This record gives sequence, C-alpha cells and structure tokens, in this order.
Amino acid sequence: MEYKNLVVTIEDQIAIIKFNRPNVLNALNIETLLELEKILDELSNNDAVRVVILTGEGKAFVAGADISQMSKFNPQEARAFAQLGHRVLSKLENLDRPVIAAINGYALGGGCEIALACDLRIIAETAKIGQPEVNLGIIPGFGGTQRLARLCGAGVAKELIYTGDMISADEAYRIGLVNKVVPQDKLLDSAKEIAQKILQKGPGAIRLTKTVINRGLDSPLETAKELEIETFALCFASGEPQEGMKAFLEKRKPNWIK
Ligand code: HXC
Repeated sequence: MEYKNLVVTIEDQIAIIKFNRPNVLNALNIETLLELEKILDELSNNDAVRVVILTGEGKAFVAGADISQMSKFNPQEARAFAQLGHRVLSKLENLDRPVIAAINGYALGGGCEIALACDLRIIAETAKIGQPEVNLGIIPGFGGTQRLARLCGAGVAKELIYTGDMISADEAYRIGLVNKVVPQDKLLDSAKEIAQKILQKGPGAIRLTKTVINRGLDSPLETAKELEIETFALCFASGEPQEGMKAFLEKRKPNWIK
C-alpha cells in the first residue's frame, strides 16, 4: 500500500499508520485526510489486521490542520474541510477493532482530535498536546469540542480550548486525556505491548466491546444497558465463549476461532 503522506506497515496482525509530512510537522491537508480515509476503508476489509496504531514521523504526531491550506478557505470550503475531517475521524472512531494513538510529539488541534478519535492514547513524556485553534481565530473543527468534553469533562475541555495551552504529557495524564506516559524511546514498543495483550483476547469480544461502549455513550443509560445485555447474549452465538471457558476449565490457552 503506497501513500504520499502516510507510511503503513502491517506485521503480526498490527497495522502501524505513520503520518509522514515531517517538514510541516505532519500538518493535515485534504490529501492526507483522504489518504487516511482510504487506509481505514482498506483496513476495515482486512481481517488479518486486528489492532491499529497511529503515530507520526519526526518531532510531531500531527501539529494540526494545514494552516497554509486553511488560510485560503472561504466559509464553504471551511465547512467542507470540517465535514471531511468529521467523516474520516468517525471512520477511525468506529473502525471495528482497537486503534491506539502513539503520540510521539506535538498533537495539536486536528492532531489532538485524531488522538481523541482513537480508543487509547499513549504519549511520549516529551510530547505536547492541546487545542490551540483560538490562537488562529477558529474553533476545533474535527470533533474536539465534543470528544474532549466527553472524555475529560466540559470544564477541562473549555479551559484547554479557551486558553489554547499546549500541555505536557504528565498534565495530559492527570486530566485523563491520555492513558499512559512513557519514555520517548519506548513509545512504539509500549503501544505494541498493549496491542499484543489485546491480540490474546477473544477477537469477537473485543470488537463487540468497542461497539457497545461507543454506541452506549451516544445513548440514554437504560438503552445502553439493554445494548450490553443483548450484546452479551450475542457473544454466545460466535463460539468464542464456548472455547474461552472450555480452555479455562482445561487449564490451557484458548484457540480463538479466526
Ligand atoms: C502548516 C505547519 C503547521 C501547521 C507547523 N508547521 N505546524 N504548517 N500547518 N499546523 C510548519 C511551520 O510553518 C514550519 O514550516 C515547520 O512546520 C516547522 O514548524 P516550526 O513552527 O518552525 O517549529 P517549532 O518552532 O518547533 O514550533 C512547533 C509548533 C508550531 C509549536 C508545533 O509549529 C506551531 O504552533 N504550529 C501550529 C500549531 C497549530 O496551531 N495547530 C492547530 C491548527 S488548527 P517552515 O516552512 O517555516 O519550516 C487545526 C484545526 C483543525 O488543527 C480543525 C479544522 C476543521
């Protein structure tokens, strides 16, 4: 798979997508968003990949939307750009397997928003993250106002967005924006370690968990609880629990159905 602005590698059922425009700190232009959409579409049809890791080349994860491109937008083009970002990040959020953001450096604006659309965020201790759009006279437009508020609470989201502050990895961990802070040189290994752990579990159970959590968060609590009950029952139609529990009782590792 050849891309201009992304480098994609697949090994051991893990796809690593690396943003690769280091000269502009991996800023997101339209072309990069379309490439990200293309690889997500391809991966959603590739059962050999069970976990995805996103990271960046150089000193940034993604330093936001491409300001050179955005600076020329009229309102219609701005709307189309925000719509494109939303479409692609919804595909990322709803990809039916876990996605881990391995934040190697600056994750700003659209870069923070990409990380927010992932299931888990691991950050290098030297990286910085934030939503600095107000410095440019714009607001987050790829879901930041909503996903950040849902993940960290409205008060935290408003503080980060109103001030435009770039915060440290430790601060991001303190406010619950990231799951884990690791040394820069251990970042990818740590992400792969988590991916490997996930790969040992029932693939169907992981996929259904993601759906139940994502759909549940968009639903009233009673509906979400019903969804959990029905999905719990659905697990038993796959053969996976039968193998998982049999393996436990026989004191062996499960052989998950591929
Ligand atoms: C275009 C960018 C860029 C960006 C950096 N560059 N960020 N180009 N879009 N978002 C370019 C710089 O112009 C520069 O190009 C090169 O990358 C290196 O960046 P420097 O600024 O020289 O690096 P440094 O001094 O280390 O500062 C790093 C930085 C700073 C603090 C991350 O680059 C910065 O503040 N970038 C902008 C971050 C930002 O505001 N992001 C939010 C964008 S709005 P040259 O040619 O000079 O070498 C957004 C909205 C999303 O994301 C939603 C839209 C709908």
